[in-house]
Amino acid sequence: MSDASPTAAPPRHVAGVFSEATDARVQRFTESISFDKRLYAHDIAGSIAHAQMLADVGVLTPDECLQITHGLEQIRREIEQGDFAYSVELEDIHMHIERALTDRLGDVGRKLHTGRSRNDQVSTDLRLWTRTRIDAISSLLADLQRAFVARCETDADVVLPGYTHLQRAQPVLAAHYYLAYCEKFERDRQRLADCRRRVNVLSLGAGALAGTSIPIDRQNVARRLGFDAVAANSLDVSSDRDFVIEFVFCLALIAEHLSTWAEEWILWSTIEFDMLELPRAFCTGSSIMPQKINPDVLELIRGKTGRVVGALQTLLVLVKGLPLAYNRDLQEDKPPLFDAADTVEACLAMAAPVVAGATLRRDAIAERLDRGHLDATAFMEYLIRRGIPQRTAHHLVGKLVGEAMRRECRLADLPLERFREIDPTLDADVFDVLGVDNAIAAMQSYGSTAPGQVAEQLARWKNHLTVLSPSPI
Ligand code: ARG
Repeated sequence: MSDASPTAAPPRHVAGVFSEATDARVQRFTESISFDKRLYAHDIAGSIAHAQMLADVGVLTPDECLQITHGLEQIRREIEQGDFAYSVELEDIHMHIERALTDRLGDVGRKLHTGRSRNDQVSTDLRLWTRTRIDAISSLLADLQRAFVARCETDADVVLPGYTHLQRAQPVLAAHYYLAYCEKFERDRQRLADCRRRVNVLSLGAGALAGTSIPIDRQNVARRLGFDAVAANSLDVSSDRDFVIEFVFCLALIAEHLSTWAEEWILWSTIEFDMLELPRAFCTGSSIMPQKINPDVLELIRGKTGRVVGALQTLLVLVKGLPLAYNRDLQEDKPPLFDAADTVEACLAMAAPVVAGATLRRDAIAERLDRGHLDATAFMEYLIRRGIPQRTAHHLVGKLVGEAMRRECRLADLPLERFREIDPTLDADVFDVLGVDNAIAAMQSYGSTAPGQVAEQLARWKNHLTVLSPSPI
């Protein structure tokens, strides 16, 4: 971007009341073109819809409308081909496009801004942009869910140690683990869909803040741009950035989910955990230690979560205490919005291939499944089913676990007499409830890691995800 184009005259809307040109330092300080130029396609789509509506209500002639739409389409092509000059003198993308149109069409171009202001225009552009990003991110989430579902098949026979407090707790089927992430990312998709309802509301027509005396037809514009509703209060909508904050909150939660997964797989890929091999193409080496295979992609996914949460914080502080309606502070909404969306999209695009390309270290996992007494809770529940009160059963099994720890053996390695001491009616059948496989097989509750439950959930997910279209990206 050139800092200032020598030929550009001062923007016309300021030339009237101002007798002197804006200080160049102010232009540089107040510009947003450096970051809002990426709204060009949405700005042009909004302007075309606005012009067509103005023609429909008789404010523009059909010929004027045609000149404007053709002019705007030409400008779009120029921008896409890199033939468009940017200058801080024109502040933002809205003024750039309008100026380029006016340069082409003269007075016809100067009619485009009838019945609108940049305040409702920028809000409309942002809503269109956010809507596109919601759809793209939702597709990427579905791709990631598909990657997890595919792993359920690959690792159908694998039992994993389940953790609480990062201490071994109870065994879970690998598929149960993968589907846990499908649930999280499904809630993320639902949140985005819900957020989209509030994004997909037309702001244009709110004017600067109070509406307009030009007989515009806002429903007409809403239809043309695919908005589901028209904002009912001009004062509200021209100051409203709730939809931006809500979207970035959705992004922050996606980033949080990704960071939990990334952290887990970073741990699992260590020699200490020895549970997972990451795809080599998604790891990096060290410049000094020749043996290193580092999980940088996962670390960056975990680390970039900070940026996204930071963006949410920035936006919340930005709007705090702003009086109605538009204030220039709102221009600062774009960098955090864009950065949060770009970051989450980039992380999701990495996550799916990592999930697909990783390999569980099945043998190493299986060899150590007997450690940590993962079957203790199953055994306690067996005693409960035989009529022992839960607190008592917990205490008795705790004592047996203590003994197994001292002997450095499994519960199943203790002699039958030790079991009979806690319940004389126990016989050798007790060994059929011990061990991780028996512990999993004994599960019954809805949503548990019981093989039947997991199979049902997996079938539901497969069905659900096939009705979602794959990501276009
Ligand atoms: N560049 C501005 C922004 O991004 C556009 C709206 C400016 N409106 C105004 N009245 N200065 O917020």
